[in-house]
Amino acid sequence: MSWWRDAVIYQVYPRSFKDSNADGVGDLRGIESGLDHICELGADALWMSPIYPSPLADFGYDVADYEDVDPAYGTLEDFDRLLARAHSRGLRVLMDLVPCHTSIQHPWFTEHPDFYIWADGQGDRPPNNWVATFGGPAWTRDERTGRWYLHSFYPEQPDLDWRNPAVVAAMQGVLRFWLDRGVDGFRIDALDRLVKDADLRDDPPASAPFVLPLHEEHARLEHLYSTNSPDIQEAIAALREAAGDALLVGEVYLGAAGVAPYLQHLDVAFAFELFHSPWEPARLREAIAACASLEATDGGPGSAWVLSNHDFPRLPDRFGPENVRAAAVLMLTLPGPCFVYQGDEIGQRNGPESPNSHDRAGRDPYRHPLQWEPEPLRAGFTTGEPWLAPVDAESRSVAAQRTDPGSVMSLYRDLIALRPHLGGGLEMVDADAGIVAFARAEHLVVVNPTTRPRPLPPGAGEPVLESEPGVVSDGWLAGHSGTVLART
Ligand code: NOJ
Repeated sequence: MSWWRDAVIYQVYPRSFKDSNADGVGDLRGIESGLDHICELGADALWMSPIYPSPLADFGYDVADYEDVDPAYGTLEDFDRLLARAHSRGLRVLMDLVPCHTSIQHPWFTEHPDFYIWADGQGDRPPNNWVATFGGPAWTRDERTGRWYLHSFYPEQPDLDWRNPAVVAAMQGVLRFWLDRGVDGFRIDALDRLVKDADLRDDPPASAPFVLPLHEEHARLEHLYSTNSPDIQEAIAALREAAGDALLVGEVYLGAAGVAPYLQHLDVAFAFELFHSPWEPARLREAIAACASLEATDGGPGSAWVLSNHDFPRLPDRFGPENVRAAAVLMLTLPGPCFVYQGDEIGQRNGPESPNSHDRAGRDPYRHPLQWEPEPLRAGFTTGEPWLAPVDAESRSVAAQRTDPGSVMSLYRDLIALRPHLGGGLEMVDADAGIVAFARAEHLVVVNPTTRPRPLPPGAGEPVLESEPGVVSDGWLAGHSGTVLART
């Protein structure tokens, strides 16, 4: 069985994980010093959001050099050291591959303009009606040539032209560069944006809401031509060719049905339909069933489960703080790889919106430093001035939760330790309308997202794990809780 089949993969957001040199920004040496924590949780691997040189228009997702490390994070030598230390502890390492676009400051933009997508405008107007992900036209006029370049995200992130074989070869080289250094796989950014309509046809107006949240302006159109072109498969096949057997996890921002074709060449894709499901039993059941029906080419689960990342409000802010434990039970008992965003293991909350925000799309609140120590100003993250302040380190921190058997962190540890014993498969179980229940071989997982107690389904035996002691009582499960039971 592949190593990732049931792996727990910990997402490190490098700027906010741990700072080793007092500049207030996390770095590779800091990640190295935090490996014990990731191992202690029981994770199998870590994925680092981009560490490449970047002018930070999109905080690393605007890459200026795919084959180096941003000086703020360290050097390639620091990277090699981190990789060796992680491997020696049995932790695999995934890079973040950003193949859809580069930074406008990447030398390719001036040296190889043909690597990008250019078109003539319609008079003063852009070539077509495509809208960028964070709003505004997806085209910017180049003052020098008068032509327009395409950018699916910020104007500082020009889209690469994957129909140009030189682009394909260059990106394959990037994969090989990191694989030769020893990485174990890649999370692939914005994969559904990789190839667009060759004729640049206008997107039609949206006739129904998209299954996942979109920026208001972006949501007015159906992204029929600006994303997800049918020949995207050829581009993904090229990534697979370069990756060999390394793990490829796709960030495919589509509902489960749209993701299925991507599994031809990927190992797994993020289960965004569950990530963005409202915290309501019927909707959660539907999303789990839809995502769990996706199969990888080897017949294993095709969904990589994830409930949180650096792009969306944190779990307590999205599902309510009272549901954080139940959400952990729900996700960490599903079959297939699970991704845990740094800080979720201590129930970390959103930070405040800051007046001098760094991210123009307003995502700073989800990116505050991991709270290591119960110290309000620096939280053990740095000895300098943190780039974003800790949120509430006195109330929650790794140090305080490590030794507390009743903490959220202990629950994560217990769930991760239990995962290998759950057995294969997943079968949704008919139960009270207010609960979510599924069977894993000899076990039954029951989650109650509602406020009041609900009866356990037939076949529920003794609890093996409870989200908090005593939530299972006399055949009932308390509100806002979850449990794993023996199946009778
Ligand atoms: C998805 C990344 O997670 C997000 O942070 C970024 O802004 C976009 N892709 C564009 O690269």
